[in-house]
Amino acid sequence: MKIDKKDVLKALEHITVPGEGKNMVESGAVTNIQIFGDEVEVDITITNPSLQARKKTEVEILKIIHKEVYEKAKIKINIKVDAPAAKPKTNEIKGKPIPGITNIIAVASGKGGVGKSTVTANLAVTLAKMGFKVGLLDADIYGPSMPIMFDVANEKPLAVNIEGKSKMKPVESYGVKLLSIGFFTQRDQAVIWRGPMASKALNQMIFDAHWGELDFMLIDLPPGTGDIHLSIMQSLPITGAVVVSTPQEIALADARKGVAMFQQDSINVPVLGIIENMAYFTPAELPDNKYHIFGKNGAKNLAEDLNVPFLGEMPLVQSIREAGDVGRPAALQTETLVEKAFEELTKEVVSEVVARNKTMPPTEAIKITTMAGCSPVNKK
Ligand SMILES: Nc1ncnc2c1ncn2[C@@H]1O[C@H](COP(=O)(O)OP(=O)(O)OP(=O)(O)O)[C@@H](O)[C@H]1O
Ligand SMILES: [Mg+2]
Repeated sequence: MKIDKKDVLKALEHITVPGEGKNMVESGAVTNIQIFGDEVEVDITITNPSLQARKKTEVEILKIIHKEVYEKAKIKINIKVDAPAAKPKTNEIKGKPIPGITNIIAVASGKGGVGKSTVTANLAVTLAKMGFKVGLLDADIYGPSMPIMFDVANEKPLAVNIEGKSKMKPVESYGVKLLSIGFFTQRDQAVIWRGPMASKALNQMIFDAHWGELDFMLIDLPPGTGDIHLSIMQSLPITGAVVVSTPQEIALADARKGVAMFQQDSINVPVLGIIENMAYFTPAELPDNKYHIFGKNGAKNLAEDLNVPFLGEMPLVQSIREAGDVGRPAALQTETLVEKAFEELTKEVVSEVVARNKTMPPTEAIKITTMAGCSPVNKK
């Protein structure tokens, strides 16, 4: 059987590389095809660094060549991951890196109440336990929850003088440096922000604060995909985003929007993965019983579907809720299932960050063109 290069190319047109829109031939991902008898060697260059994306692409190539070209073809695939080329944009607003902060991770959800803040707080304390230097920025200006979750609701950040400038010193709790809009507002007061005011307040917490050296800065975003998200992504070069969802259909639909927001061409923040929270309920007295209250594997399937890593699942456990309310994240309870589960999850997040940093250029400022309703921030 003589294999024709053209047939191989035609077959490959059926494949779309995750995150790259066009089919792989059109997008230029197929860089070379060589035929030796019944052997086909395909060179591919993709910009999506996730292992899953690579594996999926590989499997699809094998399948389609076997199906469309020759079922006994011996196929060799060489995949190279290339950093996405910076797309020139007009009216570009650059966020500036904060000296001393290595990785900035945004935690988002789409739907409200799925446990974003709880997961963020627990990731933060787990990272700190692992020995990392951790900061947490509570960017939920509408419902800041970190001061309560870290039992510092009555504290206020102090001012410190750094090289002649007055800076805010984050409040420290359980080894995590924390700033939240909640420190500056009254607990029972409804705060009505206009977009630009909120952006300004956040901007101050980012750039007028003395965060010092951090391995990780986690950002707890408000629910949804609105102005605050854009504002944060404009002012900060986000290393990657984590999306939290429950397995429930309605939460998944919003999580999908959340992922799409980060992956938008004009935003292009790598999605480190999806976390399934409230994956199932386990009564403390029957730890082997799992009740899938919100459905099963929904977020896992979504991650697969969107070709982003699945970072792990967190059960619905009473102690997680209680710990949040008393201001001591549950992951601090040693020798518990919850501690272990958060450790697993945190390791996954860290390894995705490491993988991302290996395969993509260092955190680059995002490239949002000016958007209506979102004031450009940090033009200093
Ligand atoms: N795995 C879990 N087990 C038990 N309770 C949980 C779990 N995750 C979150 N909760 C509880 O669910 C409620 C909502 O969680 P949380 O405030 O973290 O959600 P959120 O997504 O940040 O909400 P918002 O959109 O309002 O910011 C809280 O009462 C929290 O204690
Ligand atoms: Mg929250």
